[in-house]
Amino acid sequence: MNKAVVINGSPRMERGYTAVVVEPFVEGMMDAGSHVEVFYASRLKVKPCACGELYCWNEAPGECCIKDKMQLLHPRLRHADILVLATPVYIPLPGDMQNVINRLCPLLEPVLEFRKGRTRARFRKDVRIRSIVLVSTGGWWEKQNFGTVLRIVKEFAQDASVNFAGAVLRPHASVMKRDGELTQDGRAVLDAVRKAGYELIKDGVMREETLKAISRPLISRAESPA
Ligand SMILES: Cc1cc2nc3c(=O)[nH]c(=O)nc-3n(C[C@H](O)[C@H](O)[C@H](O)COP(=O)(O)O)c2cc1C
Repeated sequence: MNKAVVINGSPRMERGYTAVVVEPFVEGMMDAGSHVEVFYASRLKVKPCACGELYCWNEAPGECCIKDKMQLLHPRLRHADILVLATPVYIPLPGDMQNVINRLCPLLEPVLEFRKGRTRARFRKDVRIRSIVLVSTGGWWEKQNFGTVLRIVKEFAQDASVNFAGAVLRPHASVMKRDGELTQDGRAVLDAVRKAGYELIKDGVMREETLKAISRPLISRAESPA
């Protein structure tokens, strides 16, 4: 069975707009037959990487020198086919999310290869992840706000030598709700998000058309408060 791990980096966890988008994405993946586990970076509260000497590569390959909740996450990640990194844009990432990403280092082989002009690593042989997906929400109007986060996640996928399977991006995410309730547009966006999750598992790719429906403007630039 296909397995996926979702790491939601929003400090607002279940109450955040990122969770509003991640929930139907997970439902779509599950409808398509995936087994999905969701973790919150701010609940795991993993410490920052402190082994500047790459202990997890040089001294004890595959092992982290810091003992905390990352030890719970590593085995789940080793057995997952898909990793979904879900995060709000926080110029660029919330701190707890950045800590989790840094602490993925023990899952990488201590071998560097020079490919297409760049130095790249790869996941260790006991790590099953083949695809990485980004799910992100932002507060501002334009999609360009996701540029840095998108680049970080794409770079990480390339560093791990796995497929970057695409990005589910929802700018001016708060506009999906009015007075605490989803608007009609908000519901349509979340239906498209559910479809994207389903497509990811069924077809291995999310259709361009589906991703566009998720990130389409819900108000004009002029109406935007930010
Ligand atoms: C510290 C901080 C920095 C932010 N920077 C940006 C930004 O650069 N671009 C953007 O579109 N939104 C930015 N936002 C807004 C959040 O990305 C947006 O409100 C998001 O949907 C929050 O998700 P959450 O409710 O899951 O935490 C920022 C918010 C915070 C608190």
